[in-house]
Amino acid sequence: MSVGIDEISFYTSGQYLDLKTLAQHQGIDPNKYYDGIGQEKMAMASLDEDVVTLAANAALPIVERVGTEAIAAVLFATETGIDQSKAAGVYVHRLLGLNSNCRVVELKQACYSATAAIQMACAMVARQPARPILVIASDVARYDLESPGEATQGCGAVAMLISANPRILEIAPEVGNHTEDVMDFWRPNYRTNALVDGKYSTKIYLKSLKRSWENFTEQSSTSYTDLDYFCYHLPFGKMAQKAHSHLARVNKSGQTPEELERQIEPTLIYNRAIGNSYTASMYIGLCSLLENSTEDLTDKRIGLFSYGSGCVAEFFTARVQAGYQQALLPHKHQALLENRKELSYEEYIELYHYANPTDGGEHRLPQQTQGRFRLAAISEHKREYISV
Ligand code: CAA
Repeated sequence: MSVGIDEISFYTSGQYLDLKTLAQHQGIDPNKYYDGIGQEKMAMASLDEDVVTLAANAALPIVERVGTEAIAAVLFATETGIDQSKAAGVYVHRLLGLNSNCRVVELKQACYSATAAIQMACAMVARQPARPILVIASDVARYDLESPGEATQGCGAVAMLISANPRILEIAPEVGNHTEDVMDFWRPNYRTNALVDGKYSTKIYLKSLKRSWENFTEQSSTSYTDLDYFCYHLPFGKMAQKAHSHLARVNKSGQTPEELERQIEPTLIYNRAIGNSYTASMYIGLCSLLENSTEDLTDKRIGLFSYGSGCVAEFFTARVQAGYQQALLPHKHQALLENRKELSYEEYIELYHYANPTDGGEHRLPQQTQGRFRLAAISEHKREYISV
């Protein structure tokens, strides 16, 4: 029996900052961002958006198709948790009207946890093939102003239905892992912004790629040349280029820069316009590949590298299924990105400085999101989500 991704849908905020605007404010060459880090825009969550609303909006098209009764569990991956106790997925469960017999849990390990969720979902579906699992990855990436990470912020969520005999991708069971206790990127409970040792984090990312790949080749007979495309975790687009050159060198592939670029370029299109969305980032890249590739991907094999700082990394592979195009939502995703509002630098700063109230009073939030679900209020320390 094959198990894998039957549906994939993403959502991001309806507003963004163009990195040219940031460069202009900083008095630097915008090509540092457009070419140097490979990013053009970063999505900024509005006041009434967070990981719950982004997630519910991403999952809505899937639930509308399969119905609220079909989903056996929601595995919610995030590193922007809104509560130390309650899983964000429980709010999403109500917003989407899922069955009360559906189990919900939240998973954390920086940007990696969505991959853990996918592997757990595959194992659960292998045990009970008639019960599909909804995996959601949702994050808001924030760094300090004027820090090197500032240009690599963003936000987004991706929802994937994991089922038996999937229509989009069959996920192979062999994986390669690398885990190591390092401090490259972290966010203590008392901080809203991540702390990061930027250059070190890129080195650890590449080391983890090599180690995961080596472990993968011990587990699997798949070789580098068996793979047609590569999806990497995308903290910024240029990281995928660095990673793919690194993996090609490790495998002595002898490929030209053009050949290397061809194997990753379609994965970068959506993320270039969204920015980093941590757990969701690699899977929005996967969606970008499936929806933007100019060639028919049927039967093509994709290598995926998931990296979560701290760190846990995983290399695994998937095979594209015949007729996959019918299960995708390219028009919806492209319209979402095209119909966004561009922010001025002043509007960006105002949004950036907004802090959720912590005084326990009643605070109603202005309607800003273009999505179906919004955070309407924070009252007596409770978050109130509604459908609009
Ligand atoms: N035109 C074209 N290119 C230019 C340029 C210009 N005018 N000016 C600079 N560049 C190039 C530089 O040469 C450099 O290229 P290389 O990397 O190929 O050498 C690139 O632009 C970036 O320039 P800097 O090295 O000066 O950039 P920086 O130090 O200001 O910041 C960063 C880079 C450290 C990655 C920073 O963006 C950062 O800290 N980001 C957050 C951390 C991060 O994303 N880490 C990734 C690994 S960790 C992870 O993956 C988990 C996660 O999601 C966070």
